[in-house]
Amino acid sequence: MSEITLFNKIHSVVENIKKIPKEEKILIISHYDADGIASGSIILKSLFELGYFPHIRIVNQLDHEVISEIKSLDYNYIVFSDMGSGQKTLIESIKEKNIFIIDHHQPESPELENEINPHYFGFDGGKDISSSGLAYLLAKEIDEKNVHLSQIAIVGALGDLQDKGEKNSLIGLNEKISQDAEKSGLLKKKLGLKLHGFESRPIIQCLANTIEPYLPGLTGNEGACLKFIKNLGIEPKKPDGSWKTVSDLSNEEIRLLVSGLIKYLISLGFSSKEAEKIIGTVYIFPNESKDSPLYDAREFSSSINACGRMNKYGLGISICLGDRDKALSELKQVLHEYRQKLSYYIDWLNSHNNSIKILSHVQAVFGEDIIDEKMIGPLISMLYGGKPFSLDKPIIGFSKSKNFVKVSARATIELVNKGINLGLLIKEAAKKFNGIGGGHSIAAGAQIPIGKEEEFLEYLNKLIEESQVIKPETRITN
Ligand code: C5P
Ligand code: C5P
Repeated sequence: MSEITLFNKIHSVVENIKKIPKEEKILIISHYDADGIASGSIILKSLFELGYFPHIRIVNQLDHEVISEIKSLDYNYIVFSDMGSGQKTLIESIKEKNIFIIDHHQPESPELENEINPHYFGFDGGKDISSSGLAYLLAKEIDEKNVHLSQIAIVGALGDLQDKGEKNSLIGLNEKISQDAEKSGLLKKKLGLKLHGFESRPIIQCLANTIEPYLPGLTGNEGACLKFIKNLGIEPKKPDGSWKTVSDLSNEEIRLLVSGLIKYLISLGFSSKEAEKIIGTVYIFPNESKDSPLYDAREFSSSINACGRMNKYGLGISICLGDRDKALSELKQVLHEYRQKLSYYIDWLNSHNNSIKILSHVQAVFGEDIIDEKMIGPLISMLYGGKPFSLDKPIIGFSKSKNFVKVSARATIELVNKGINLGLLIKEAAKKFNGIGGGHSIAAGAQIPIGKEEEFLEYLNKLIEESQVIKPETRITN
């Protein structure tokens, strides 16, 4: 692992950026999830501060369509952010343009002159640093003043669930970035419940508002949260009738809440290790107002993720760039609609049992053209732990779009530790059906032709069965 060589590479890429004539048009292309929007915003801001007027385009993925669009546009400089390293063959067809890549996904060879990817330097792009972290290091190399963008780098890393250290902390280069933020007074860390707004909101609201982790039966349902709190023996209101926040709870009430939540999650089928992850390192941005969805870095990250999934890219970018006031009220509306959309999908699935299929080694949701292709990923992540799904096999989601079927796949950390690599499995299965796919061991995705969902699933089931990673005797039954 070499930080020095990574920093040398960043230095040489920055030198090349500075050689771009100021009148040149630069196009940044980034991914729609939290890390994509955050990294694209950091690059946009730092190029702007260097005197350029870059444009940004957020896309679902880097495919032939995006490449032909780039070909037809009048930009000589293209910056791929959170994508590109794994699509070198595609990019080859626009090699007459000046290409820059800032990406943390597994790269295809060869390494390009203007490509920043941690894997070439011995870092793991799944947990040591995300695209936003790389974009931040680039921004800091451009100008030390850009240290304030460390917060956005943390938002991106948390969006890609890179808090893989002890007590859900950031590790590797992400941890170094969090130290930059702490030193500048932009970050506070503490151990606590990873509920959105745990520090500041009424308990009922913070249970109902928490999307990641999704609390089956509680997220989005304040009535159910009130009942849950009362059943634990906690009085939710203060004597003056106002709602209690965590600072109003006694130590005994906090203990009841923590153990009650863990027991509840275990009763849903979570392993105790997974359930205990409800407690972890909480990252706070003290410069944000306490009641804002941007105060807790995980909630900030879920908010940007929601903007991306709800096609509100401009809003996500402007919030990362520092817009508040009007942008914040718009964000609250987007978050409300995002939660509503997810609960609509869950209700739809509950009344369409034939949209769920459980095989020996995989389980699946067929979202047809009801579930949006951008929502299928977060939806299946949430379904883990709820009936009839179990935690002992990957969960695959299908969503039909105009020309193809979008596949999303998620595993648990326990399955990954046993040897499941969804990125490789999905890539292989997609290839078999003339599709494209890939991703990480724990989260992957693909595009396959319409009508091939069942065959794809059977094939994936066979691949996992043959790999013998999930053995029948080690399976936990619900
Ligand atoms: O393309 P990219 O790597 O940025 O996307 C990773 C996606 O996988 C994110 O949307 C993230 O939320 C999801 N993920 C997940 N579970 C994990 C790690 C990542 O659902 N443990
Ligand atoms: O779209 P979703 O959130 O399910 O994506 C999970 C992971 O799979 C992301 O890292 C994404 O970049 C990757 N993916 C991919 N090829 C696709 C779709 C998703 O590599 N066709």
